[in-house]
Amino acid sequence: MKMRISFNDKISHDSGVLVLLQSSTTLNGITKDIDQKLNGQVRKILGADSFSFKKGSIVKLPQPAGLPFSEVIVIGVDAEKPLSAQDIETLGAKIHTSLGNSQEKYATIVTSEIKANVKDLVAPALIANGVLLKSWCFDDYRTQLEKSDRCQTKRWEFITDDTAAAKADFKTLEEISEGVFLTRHVVSEPPNVIYPKTLAERAKELEKLGVRVEIFDEKDLKKLGLNALLGVGLGSEKESHMVVMHWEGGKKDADPIAFVGKGVTFDTGGISIKPAGDMDEMKWDMAGAGVVLGLMRALAGRKAKVNAIGVMGLVENMPSGSAQRPGDIVKSLSGQTIEILNTDAEGRLVLADALWYTQDRFKPKTMIDLATLTGAIIISLGNEHAGLFSNSDELANNLADCGLATGEKLWRLPLAKAYDKDIDSVVADMKNIGSGRGAGSITAAQFLQRFVNKTTWAHLDIAGTSWNKKGGSLAQAGATAFGVRLLNHFVATHYEH
Ligand code: BES
Ligand code: MN
Ligand code: ZN
Repeated sequence: MKMRISFNDKISHDSGVLVLLQSSTTLNGITKDIDQKLNGQVRKILGADSFSFKKGSIVKLPQPAGLPFSEVIVIGVDAEKPLSAQDIETLGAKIHTSLGNSQEKYATIVTSEIKANVKDLVAPALIANGVLLKSWCFDDYRTQLEKSDRCQTKRWEFITDDTAAAKADFKTLEEISEGVFLTRHVVSEPPNVIYPKTLAERAKELEKLGVRVEIFDEKDLKKLGLNALLGVGLGSEKESHMVVMHWEGGKKDADPIAFVGKGVTFDTGGISIKPAGDMDEMKWDMAGAGVVLGLMRALAGRKAKVNAIGVMGLVENMPSGSAQRPGDIVKSLSGQTIEILNTDAEGRLVLADALWYTQDRFKPKTMIDLATLTGAIIISLGNEHAGLFSNSDELANNLADCGLATGEKLWRLPLAKAYDKDIDSVVADMKNIGSGRGAGSITAAQFLQRFVNKTTWAHLDIAGTSWNKKGGSLAQAGATAFGVRLLNHFVATHYEH
């Protein structure tokens, strides 16, 4: 599905839906002209007591006499406070929603009134990006749908005086959104389609954009000694993999920033099997890896001036005669031994080796992992914030700020010696679950910390934010790609000067 988005200084299609964005009753330029053709109806709508700019009223004029459009939609915009990038993208998403499942081929949006309070980005580009983000949907497998119920494609034209600026800014935003869509796509795919090998193949496609992609299969991983990761995949017919992606857009010898994702393409829990209810949701237990993939797509697409490494640890967690058992002890790549007490605490085992490998080989200045790691984070933070853990206050603060700027919000939880002690084992160096029932997300993070060495590191537990059943402000129901926009923004603000 591909939206067609263009920018123009005058209306070029006199059919379809026309949307007027207004932050006051004053009419200028094109809007004034349209109002005249409509015999003052726009003025009347804006002046009505029931119309509220603050609340963002939406009024629709179907089959307007005097104009060739099928519908004119007037949307009030609250511009009392300066509009942030997020406000304006959300406005774009609202325009998309206001059209419902209109079958019209063309939508024309008059944006001239809206000004962004954002450095480097003009409002029309942000509005278009909001439309784009909200328009993405996944119906690849619904062969019997009526056309009207399918994901809609349209030609969107945004009317603005400064088309050059809008086009240039949108080009960058679109690349980031393409990264978001890649993530949403692989996270939405079913687990019989996306498994370690096929997800690795999707990564290989980034070579077209200049990303170097290395794929390690089971034989390679055995040779390297990633036994903690391999242990999780033992019960599966599907071969475990690890993917390393390199984007070299920075100075030749500058240390990279590294992103590491949990890619459990299906998590049954293994021998410590999960209950049947909602187990299908564990197809998106690879969302961390999916975000790393989409982020690399975004960075390469917009040619970010940074050296970035993206690592995906890819396994399927299945019960079978060859599966790992509770009680097994594995020797991780780091040399530390792990007693497996619950085979469903598998994400940390995958990340343990992927994190150690990444810091050991690349010596990154910063390493950030993303994982749908614990159900406990959903108990703590619900679906609004992802859990943030870090061994650096500065890194944690910077990430939290980027979360606010992009709407992918983070909330920091503590790391401390007392929690770390909770994963000491009597028979090995550590066990893969805590002893008590409390602080499950923290003990999981403590476990990861044992594999980052001295690297400046942050862990994002995205179990509550990767999938949204109801749909969010910039996404329809389903995969969110939470983390792509956040980390792209983090790279842009802190690593590309
Ligand atoms: N993938 C799950 C965590 C999860 C749960 C993600 C619900 C998204 C929604 C993870 O592998 C897991 O099973 N964690 C266990 C850990 C426990 C056994 C210590 C959990 O959270 O119950
Ligand atoms: Mn699990
Ligand atoms: Zn899992």
